[in-house]
Amino acid sequence: MANLMLTKRCNLHCSYCFANEFVNRQSDEMSYENFLTCLDFLSHDPQERIGLIGGEPTMHPELKRMLGKLIDSPFQQICLFTNGILLDRFFTELRNSKFTVLINLNAPSGIGQANFDRTIYNIDQMINHLYMRSQVQLSLNVYASDMDYGYMLDVLKRFQMKRLRLSVAVPNMEAGREVDPLAYFRMMAGTVRALVRDLLEIGVAPVFDCNYIPFCIFNDEDNALVSRYPEVMKRSNIHRINPVCSPVLDILPDLQVVRCFGMSSLYKVNLLDFRNTQELQRHFDAEIDKLAYHILPSDECRGCREYAAMRCSGGCYAYRLDKIRKLRQEIRSVWGELK
Ligand SMILES: C[S@@+](CC[C@H](N)C(=O)[O-])C[C@H]1O[C@@H](n2cnc3c(N)ncnc32)[C@H](O)[C@@H]1O
Repeated sequence: MANLMLTKRCNLHCSYCFANEFVNRQSDEMSYENFLTCLDFLSHDPQERIGLIGGEPTMHPELKRMLGKLIDSPFQQICLFTNGILLDRFFTELRNSKFTVLINLNAPSGIGQANFDRTIYNIDQMINHLYMRSQVQLSLNVYASDMDYGYMLDVLKRFQMKRLRLSVAVPNMEAGREVDPLAYFRMMAGTVRALVRDLLEIGVAPVFDCNYIPFCIFNDEDNALVSRYPEVMKRSNIHRINPVCSPVLDILPDLQVVRCFGMSSLYKVNLLDFRNTQELQRHFDAEIDKLAYHILPSDECRGCREYAAMRCSGGCYAYRLDKIRKLRQEIRSVWGELK
């Protein structure tokens, strides 16, 4: 999957957002020309899934034109990542079945009641008036161990949603990631466990985004819980998760590419130095992933068979950013700088 960061502007200021390195600092927007360059680059593989991200992509002044271009393109799976506040401006285009709309819905106490109400209005329009139910997905960022997600349960019930995408937020400040990832997951596990239980009770399947929780964090009680809801769990990805961190290519407005936002301060390359996404993936794999796996995420992972077999990365690589940076510097000093 390749994500195009259409704009660095955002109409919200989410405390946990790991795009904060960019967002609202500069008001960079991807030009329409650069957008076409991205599509041209990605057209080597029309099966490629494209994500439109930000900042808040609905704040891009040319989003309508971009969506129109995507409708005429060979790409068939395009996901708009949004907070949902401005969606009604784009209903005409988004009704095209190649689009899905992933709405990160935060609590009214965090985003303000008026913004929350606008998003709910837009969800209602799409689901109940525009027949877009299959294109709408709600998402919750789990960013605090004491977060109150009750509002989300109400929304899921109101719209009879069958799935909720959950993203266990990676601490967005690099200093915050100087934690043992397993300790961090344990801290968040109570909330995730309670949330999964509450979701299953109302027939909603949890669908996990990356930053997978290593299986060792779960216990027999968790397994017993999910096995009580086999029908709902068929819609979940829990049984298909391979908890290994893998690259999502994020293309910035100026055509710089980062392996994903969480790793953005480590390394950027220029899209135009590559011929296709496979080359980019291979490059990031060699430059980052291969090194990252050799850095033990936690003392607890020492001797772990899952880790040794590369079936679990012990969480997102962003937790070991600093160590990867040092290892890369050492390797570079042996190789010499690129000419
Ligand atoms: C950076 S947001 C920008 C798009 C849009 N404004 C939105 O609210 O979805 C894109 C994605 O990043 C994810 N995200 C943001 N902060 C994160 C964090 N600290 N850890 C993991 N995922 C995060 C969100 O789940 C969201 O799907």
